[in-house]
Amino acid sequence: MTGCGGSQSKIDEIKAKSTKAPVDPMENWKNNNGVGPIKSMELPTSIDQAMVSSGQQVFESKCTACHKIEKNFIGPSPKGILSRRTASWTMNMILNPDGMVKEDPIAKKLLIDLSRIMILLKLDISALLGYTGALFQNFFWK
Ligand code: HEC
Repeated sequence: MTGCGGSQSKIDEIKAKSTKAPVDPMENWKNNNGVGPIKSMELPTSIDQAMVSSGQQVFESKCTACHKIEKNFIGPSPKGILSRRTASWTMNMILNPDGMVKEDPIAKKLLIDLSRIMILLKLDISALLGYTGALFQNFFWK
């Protein structure tokens, strides 16, 4: 840094703005808290085993129709989710999937990628409509 650091950084800032390529929403995940009731969330530092087992039961009864732990299925595998999404984004995806799919850049992109795969595989899209109402409807019958 020299004495002119201030104005140089201003120039760099303007340059950066003018040459900015469109950002992949996936790359910006650390700054994305999602859209929904959770505005920010700190993860607890220790694991509560009772919550783990009740969470596992909920997952097995409500989520495994579409999410398999070890591989992508109808929905993505949740394995390692917190190394690619923030905790609040993940919570909002569970609590407000319709809003997320309409407004959140990552959720929108996931849905578009997924829809392409489904069309390629000629899967029955209507079978998925149960996912909190109109998740897919918005995309296919707009
Ligand atoms: C009817 C199928 C279906 C069910 C049931 C379902 N999901 Fe999903 N889920 C999806 C699809 C499809 C996506 C990807 C589309 C998107 O995110 O826009 C997804 C995405 C997600 C994501 C984001 C994954 C990522 O890699 O970013 C999370 C987290 C998630 N679901 C959690 C859950 C949980 C927890 C449950 C159970 C309470 C659940 N889902 C039930 C279909 C389902």
